[in-house]
Amino acid sequence: MTHYSALTVHQINKHYQDGSRQIDVIRDLSFNVAAGKSISVTGPSGSGKSTLLNALAGLVELDDGDITLEIEDRIFSYRAANERARTAFRRQHIGYVYQFFNLVPTLTVLENVRLPARLNRRPDLEAHASTLLSDFGLSDRLHDFPEKLSGGEQQRVAVARAVLLKPPLLLADEPTGNLDSENSAQIADLLFSSCRDQNIMLVLATHSHDIAAMADTRLHLDARPSSSLAPE
Ligand SMILES: Nc1ncnc2c1ncn2[C@@H]1O[C@H](COP(=O)(O)OP(=O)(O)O)[C@@H](O)[C@H]1O
Ligand SMILES: [Mg+2]
Repeated sequence: MTHYSALTVHQINKHYQDGSRQIDVIRDLSFNVAAGKSISVTGPSGSGKSTLLNALAGLVELDDGDITLEIEDRIFSYRAANERARTAFRRQHIGYVYQFFNLVPTLTVLENVRLPARLNRRPDLEAHASTLLSDFGLSDRLHDFPEKLSGGEQQRVAVARAVLLKPPLLLADEPTGNLDSENSAQIADLLFSSCRDQNIMLVLATHSHDIAAMADTRLHLDARPSSSLAPE
């Protein structure tokens, strides 16, 4: 398990170009998350929640500013790393839970959860996958394919897959956006308790104010990124 970790977002900016219009999605954003702590990100559609989470996953090239993830005595700078290095880093150190579960349809529940251990050559953790699924109440679904599961069950599988490696950082992008209220509450509890228990930092984007309020700190993004005409 990771004993020490910290996430630092320092004055990051990200724009997209839409024809002659510049869309400033993230403007001078800074925040920190300490080991095992959580932050919720709220804001209407288009306010940049997914862009921020993708930036934290190293999937988005920043215009300026930096994101650093400190793990034990090493500091990984996203700006200093190339795409290949960020991909390798993400695979090893970051879990991701999406709104639409994103399980591999051709793999069973157990195979889906084992996948990160396979990709990272951690056979020691492959055995842990079934324990985790039992803890999440899915011991009788191990050999089913995802399509046979309810949305709530599929998302529990996705959470198990995301925490299997006990990554220092877990990103969740509207993880309850496709679930009814009972399943939403269950998934939120599972995410927050798994992260707290395993010292995982959680960054969670949500439209639910009840779920946002479960986080240690809250970040609200403005209604719409300002658009401006790009200079000639
Ligand atoms: N790859 C992209 N290319 C161009 N514009 C994008 C891209 N990704 C997102 N955007 C724009 O950035 C803004 C923020 O989008 P997003 O981060 O998905 O917001 P949210 O997740 O809060 O709904 C939107 O105006 C969206 O259209
Ligand atoms: Mg989004």
